[in-house]
Amino acid sequence: MRLVFLGPPGSGKGTQSKRLVEHLHILHLSTGDMLRAVVTQDTEIGRAAAQSMATGWLVPDALVVKLVKDRFREPDVQNGFLIDGFPRTVAQAAAFEEYLAETQRPLSGVLELRVPLEELVSRLAGRGRKDDTPEIVRERQGIYRQKTQPLVDFYRQRKLLFPIDGLGTSDEVFERIIETVTGLKP
Ligand code: AP5
Repeated sequence: MRLVFLGPPGSGKGTQSKRLVEHLHILHLSTGDMLRAVVTQDTEIGRAAAQSMATGWLVPDALVVKLVKDRFREPDVQNGFLIDGFPRTVAQAAAFEEYLAETQRPLSGVLELRVPLEELVSRLAGRGRKDDTPEIVRERQGIYRQKTQPLVDFYRQRKLLFPIDGLGTSDEVFERIIETVTGLKP
């Protein structure tokens, strides 16, 4: 199965991805985790990631697309994947779509976690990651609405979008996700 997890910062993409990949025995990829891993490197992507994460902005599309394509060359992606935090812009989604078509790996579905803004803010306030300060959280939420929200229509038009209510306990949300993926083609 080849899945994308879409949702605003704090919607539970990371939390639910970990559970879902164990359940489906597929690979978990997160561009947030991948970028946090290169942030200390003195490379173009390392410097861009450090700067973007300190402000809540997005890392430039070309750098993120290259990071993902390089990772997709590894053999472990063959057996299916769940990617969270990518794509995050229409340009990333278009590049990813083209790449998946070229490599004959169409998506099975895009899971969109829906959570109201007040709940997102309170969840992130309780976590304490470096980019969870009130100012950066506000910036990340604004950028999500501006740059990433348009992907909801992008994937809806392709009949790949599966909205999921992300409110409730982690177990309740996971149950809804399982119900949704059970109906998807492998
Ligand atoms: P990234 O790491 O992707 O962060 P994010 O999208 O901001 O998402 P979060 O990790 O904050 O939230 P989440 O939805 O995973 O929720 P989580 O499960 O952690 O990106 C970070 C940065 O990297 C970006 O700002 C950008 O600069 C850069 N970047 C990454 N990808 C990029 C790309 N493609 N292009 C350009 N730049 C990119 O949960 C959050 C909290 O809520 C946790 O404390 C959790 O315990 C709690 N929680 C989870 N579920 C529940 C629940 N059901 N009830 C109550 N609490 C819950």
